[in-house]
Amino acid sequence: MLMSICHVKKEFNGTPVLRDVNMDIDKGDVVVILGPSGSGKTTFLRCLNFLERADGGELELDGKTIDLHDASNKDIADVRRKTAFVFQNYNLFANKTVLENVTLGLTAGRGISKTEAEERAREALQKVGML
Ligand SMILES: Nc1ncnc2c1ncn2[C@@H]1O[C@H](COP(=O)(O)OP(=O)(O)O)[C@@H](O)[C@H]1O
Ligand SMILES: [Mg+2]
Repeated sequence: MLMSICHVKKEFNGTPVLRDVNMDIDKGDVVVILGPSGSGKTTFLRCLNFLERADGGELELDGKTIDLHDASNKDIADVRRKTAFVFQNYNLFANKTVLENVTLGLTAGRGISKTEAEERAREALQKVGML
């Protein structure tokens, strides 16, 4: 198992939005979270990345279990290094090139050298026909 999500709970002002949500994800899985607008899809993802603090639940990632309510700043940084979030709206840096936008997370976020980051970025851009 790559990632196990257990018993996620979240309410806003007494209204439950996530009620005991569970999900197991294997390496290579492509998972779609589907549901009507307002059903809690974004809240669920925000809780996993700690943009929102869940009321309860656990995330098991890389063999380590993290409490979604009580995670330390170090645990949060650790999860964020291993996950990525693509926002629905436009969040590129307009003053940077495509290559700079793609490499910034690797160099600033993960401490990968500029040379290696550019190599990986070029491979990724090649894959989607943007090189
Ligand atoms: N910060 C917040 N404060 C109060 N209510 C919120 C907040 N964020 C989301 N909600 C409510 O939680 C519910 C789920 O929202 P959301 O996760 O954005 O749904 P989805 O992404 O599936 O459209 C909605 O009723 C929404 O109004
Ligand atoms: Mg949403």
